[in-house]
Amino acid sequence: MKAVEIVKGVYWAGAIDWNIRDYHGYTLPGTTYNAYLIVGDKIALIDSAYPGFDSQIIERVSSIVDPKKIDYLIANHIEKDHSGTLPALTKMLPGVPIYCTENAVKGFSKHYDTAGWNFKVVTSGDTLSLGKGKTLAFLEAPLLHWPDSMFTYLAEEKILFPNDAFGQHIATSQRFDDEIGKEESLKQAQKFYGNLIIPLAPRVLKKLDEVGKLGLEIKIVAPSHGIIWRSYAGDIIGSYVNWSRGVSKNKATIVYDTMHGSTDAMAKAFAEGLMEEGIEVKVCLLKDGKAEGTHRSNIVPEVLDSKAILVGSPTLQNQMYPTVADFMSYLKGLEPGKLGRKKIGFAFGSHGGHGGTIKLITDDLKAAGIEVVNDGIEVYYKPDRKEIERCTELGRELGRKIKSM
Ligand code: FEO
Repeated sequence: MKAVEIVKGVYWAGAIDWNIRDYHGYTLPGTTYNAYLIVGDKIALIDSAYPGFDSQIIERVSSIVDPKKIDYLIANHIEKDHSGTLPALTKMLPGVPIYCTENAVKGFSKHYDTAGWNFKVVTSGDTLSLGKGKTLAFLEAPLLHWPDSMFTYLAEEKILFPNDAFGQHIATSQRFDDEIGKEESLKQAQKFYGNLIIPLAPRVLKKLDEVGKLGLEIKIVAPSHGIIWRSYAGDIIGSYVNWSRGVSKNKATIVYDTMHGSTDAMAKAFAEGLMEEGIEVKVCLLKDGKAEGTHRSNIVPEVLDSKAILVGSPTLQNQMYPTVADFMSYLKGLEPGKLGRKKIGFAFGSHGGHGGTIKLITDDLKAAGIEVVNDGIEVYYKPDRKEIERCTELGRELGRKIKSM
């Protein structure tokens, strides 16, 4: 296994996890755990990999230097997908200094037996010179996304190692953005942002502002998952700013499940009305989440750049359909309506008894920060021609509202 040179003396020495398909509710086609080897007069390794990937990290490092010659470990984040190799590394390198935040020291002791680990606590502005024009600077990034998180910056090469921020969950043979293309890189980053970063938007903006005030020029962004941004670093940083400010398109996402086709017919009628007004529409049938586009984590990035979201469900035992309840629970946690600009929406559905689901969905939409623009539309059993026309008209009305936002 080989490391990959990023610039002279800086290497990707991470692990590719081709097989992972679920990571705390996020469906993914594999991922990478990126570790970075910096070789000056002294040698540093930034981050590592999930437990079980020790040999990939050590072998890739070995393709450049003897791993026993590593002088410093830099731990930007304690989560196990970036620290799982530390027990093996600290065993191989007894007493090796581990640079991390104070919160990381507390977190590591809860995850590992850290007896004998030689922590060097850093705060923002601290630096570590490796010689040969390689100076690492540290920037604490608490709650971006864990209390322990920090960024590392290689000053001379203007490379930012922000750990999870700007990452993407993909497993590829390519290591760089220009190898998989800008569109694919940003699409994968949007999914990552939508599922993990939305609630942190104010912190993202504050941190980027801080980076700007420090005058840190960034040529390359080297996150801890996915490809490295060397050609489109400005685009990913700009996208993070836009997503965090809630910039969205004239687009509506319709999310629903259906029992016998009634809620499905309503969803498609709303879509027709929206399309007549020239609105981009994404129609997302939840179902079991196994088919492309039907899993909650594939739908959230669509919501991220939409101005409107409609959620539909049949009433089942006086509750939402289970798939819809799952989605709404996820959406409430992310709160996409609380980004910088408002999102609007409403609930719809069918029932064969007393109904009531739309009230539950409406409450959840509000909890997710969505401005609910009507009380929702609920039909008994199956929508008739008049009710379908009403749904289409509501779609047109919503389309006009979207265009006025
Ligand atoms: Fe917060 Fe990729 O772990």
